[in-house]
Amino acid sequence: MTRAKIIGLGAYAPERILSNHDLEKMVDTTDEWIFSRTGIRERRIAATGEDTSDMCVNAAAMAFESSGLAASDIDLIIAATVTPDYRLPSTSCMIQKKIKAVNSATMDVVAACAGFIHGLSIAQAYIATGVYRNIMIFGAEKLSSITDYEDRNTCVLFGDGAGAAILTAADDDSGILSTYLKSDGNLDRLLHIPGGGTNKPYGANGNYDRKETLLRMSGNEVFKYAVRHMGDASMRVIKDAGLSPDDIDLLVPHQANIRIIKATADRLGMPQEKVFMNIEKFGNTSAASVPLALHDAVQQGRIKKGDLVLSVAFGGGLTWGAAVIRW
Ligand code: ACO
Repeated sequence: MTRAKIIGLGAYAPERILSNHDLEKMVDTTDEWIFSRTGIRERRIAATGEDTSDMCVNAAAMAFESSGLAASDIDLIIAATVTPDYRLPSTSCMIQKKIKAVNSATMDVVAACAGFIHGLSIAQAYIATGVYRNIMIFGAEKLSSITDYEDRNTCVLFGDGAGAAILTAADDDSGILSTYLKSDGNLDRLLHIPGGGTNKPYGANGNYDRKETLLRMSGNEVFKYAVRHMGDASMRVIKDAGLSPDDIDLLVPHQANIRIIKATADRLGMPQEKVFMNIEKFGNTSAASVPLALHDAVQQGRIKKGDLVLSVAFGGGLTWGAAVIRW
């Protein structure tokens, strides 16, 4: 079966930095609490009028440069986000328009922090079956638009950013070796936005409340499921690729919380030097987190040609997934 390989990566983080010390002035928290419980020091915040698709355009330019492909070569754009520019049209359509990928189909994926891994799995399936050859995946979020900056349980975690990856049919032994996706909709209430959908439309019965359009989370419940499912999903893709945890050169996990990442690595028996983290400077950027981390890892020389990379993510839905890639 033809494998999909990543031939280009791009990343974009907005200019504005929101530090833990800034948050100390907004809610009852401290830099010490945030850093020790999450590993986060600062996160980026998009400008007013800077949409999710605008951040993707910046990430796309870098991905085109590193892949050698042009926008017109792209057959499919997948945009993973829970913070779309509009409810209609899709963010992938907005990206297509802005980067002029005139020959592509488009689709959005709503799988929160696991969105980019969903994109990898979809791209792998389409490339393996020959439906499409060149696929561009974006993981991008303007989480500041759905964050309640009066809620210390959530506002210390989230940041904005975008990552892009270009995949094509592999002509060597590199590429995606295995993927796994899973969801549990029964746990929908653990991480959700109550208002703005058909269940509770804006202004229904004249009771519009902006707070209803912001993210709510049962942090420690989510934490427990994240540790369990990220570990299970990782073990599964490693086995499906015919490997053992020792074979993995680098774990590039969703940057949710340093303690979740460490627990996942422990479960796999992986030493910290095999784990990539950039959570300190970006916080949790949901769907953008994995491509931002992959990009940084490549830039820093932590991923080299031939390396076996494990990526795993978990988020609202609940949704989770993992992938093993030979670089
Ligand atoms: N500053 C100071 N104290 C705080 C803060 C804060 N920012 N936030 C919570 N606390 C307090 C709580 O009120 C609580 O106080 P109490 O004991 O007096 O009630 C105490 O700290 C402990 O609270 P916990 O919620 O038990 O803290 P925990 O160690 O679980 O850390 C955290 C909270 C960081 C949110 C953690 O649970 C976590 O990271 N959860 C997972 C988040 C995640 O991965 N989400 C999924 C992806 S997001 C997406 O899909 C968009």
